[in-house]
Amino acid sequence: MTFEPSDALKRLPNQFFTRLRSKAAKLIEQGYDVIDLGIGNPDLPTPAFIVDELKAAADNPVNDRYGPYRGYDYLREAVAAYYWREYGVEVDPETEVAVLHGSKAGIVSISQCLLNPGDTVLLPNPAYPDYLSGIALADAEIASLPLLAENNFLPEYGLVGPTIAAKAKLLFLNYPNNPTAATATAEFFADTVAFAQKNQICVAHDFAYGTIGFDGEKPLSFLQTPGAKEVGIEFFTLSKSHNMAGWRIGFAVGNTSVIESLNVMQDHTNVSLYGGIQQAAAKALRGDQTTVKELTAIYEKRRNLFLAELEQTGLEIQKPKGSFYVWIKAPDGFTSAEFFDVLLNEAHVIVATGDGFGTLGEGYVRVGLSQADDQILEAAKRIAQLTLFKAPIAEKTLVRRTLS
Ligand SMILES: Cc1ncc(COP(=O)(O)O)c(C=O)c1O
Repeated sequence: MTFEPSDALKRLPNQFFTRLRSKAAKLIEQGYDVIDLGIGNPDLPTPAFIVDELKAAADNPVNDRYGPYRGYDYLREAVAAYYWREYGVEVDPETEVAVLHGSKAGIVSISQCLLNPGDTVLLPNPAYPDYLSGIALADAEIASLPLLAENNFLPEYGLVGPTIAAKAKLLFLNYPNNPTAATATAEFFADTVAFAQKNQICVAHDFAYGTIGFDGEKPLSFLQTPGAKEVGIEFFTLSKSHNMAGWRIGFAVGNTSVIESLNVMQDHTNVSLYGGIQQAAAKALRGDQTTVKELTAIYEKRRNLFLAELEQTGLEIQKPKGSFYVWIKAPDGFTSAEFFDVLLNEAHVIVATGDGFGTLGEGYVRVGLSQADDQILEAAKRIAQLTLFKAPIAEKTLVRRTLS
């Protein structure tokens, strides 16, 4: 017997990264040395002091039992201590922290927590695709906020019409940004608070790449903005900051009512996380942050290696200010998919096509820097040597036609 999935499940979009992988699988099967810069999966191991804490915690039978629904106090206190130490932001561990099974769990459930069918959510275009999953489950409507290169990939609230602004209940933001690698400014966050206050919109700031800022600039937490806690929350994850993507641990901090809603949802779907992971996460947040700084330096070096090789190609790339992505405009006349195919078939490099992040991602591809330095350099060299970049501008369209 086959059982029909629910309407909610049917509304879920296709998993974008799965589609990309199947395109590359053929070449890999044929034995080609394909370099995968398509996904954002940290390649380096979790720092040893965190792993050691987990090992010790595994010997403690307390962790074999169900833990408190909303996480152990020591973890929520470590989160508060982290926000105070890193950002000078005061957070009440009791009422302003929700422990999450990876930030994605909260990112998906916040739409179900705050939106009813037909409600409007303001969604940047392009954006990390997983926001769509929660929005689809909640059966909410999307109003798109364009992120354009000429505006440093920050949305312009002045362009949101009064009807949409009045209808909107939730606004997603994400800086350092996936996929564009842009960072936010204090002025932009102040505008965001003003816009949200005026229109009674909840801001959900996804700070997944919060520790990865380049050229000496530490990315701003949204909660550093005066009034931010009144209007929203911030999602943080240890996936990227401490290379703990497989551990599934993140949290949300900020507005008490939203944190309570996230917690209520979790009370019904989860019973917190394994205690050993909570202990290790608390250690990571309270411990020496040298490894976090070293990791950022590694990504910055990879960014520099990659960009230096591509300088001669004339590709239009805004120097990434944070995250571990490079957002590249496809050469004139190429769609994202066409440029993806050239990179895959000629350079044997997998990237992510920009259209997977929204309609305004069309014409771009995203490169992820979560591969070893030599792989990044090799990929950049192969791209720089494409026939495409050797042909005079006028012949590029012709080169494209013959490739397809
Ligand atoms: C922008 C953004 N937000 C959230 C996540 C999810 O992170 P987590 O591992 O905490 O679920 C990712 C993962 O790639 C991401 O890129």
